[in-house]
Amino acid sequence: MDHNATRQAARIRAGERSIAWWKEAHRLQLALCDDLEAIADSLPSNIVNQDCLFAAKSLGRLIRDVHAYEEETLFPALRQVFQASGEFTLALDRLTFEHLADECYADDIAEKLVYIGSGGRDVNMEALGYMLRGFFDALRRHIAFERDHFSSAIDTLVGAVDRQPKPVLK
Ligand SMILES: [Fe+2]
Repeated sequence: MDHNATRQAARIRAGERSIAWWKEAHRLQLALCDDLEAIADSLPSNIVNQDCLFAAKSLGRLIRDVHAYEEETLFPALRQVFQASGEFTLALDRLTFEHLADECYADDIAEKLVYIGSGGRDVNMEALGYMLRGFFDALRRHIAFERDHFSSAIDTLVGAVDRQPKPVLK
């Protein structure tokens, strides 16, 4: 039995099964960007503490869940199907690097949102606003790139799943 082929087929199928979740996760991340923009607009004198705490709670968990799925399931499946495309491989490498930067910024932002959400006001509000805008602008661009460049690739991925040999039952 070719265990390597079986593992590759399972990886592709796992990628296909979770694509609906991935699209929903994109929608949730964009909603979070809208929430972060509203917080940035509220600085420095119209801060709603509860909104800051809620955004902080969602931020780290959502970003890490999406990145884990993309890096452990979707990207390996796409690399397998498009392994001959150097351009595609470079794009996936770039997106993976952006994940790392986004996670670092998400941790910093979540920490500051918890602080001001708990009533802390002795922070540099201008710097925080700049930080928030830099984060959600970059995240929106990241998501737009993935949507624009992966739509047809994902259709191909789904087609690849359909072409996998079915197991023979004895
Ligand atoms: Fe991503």
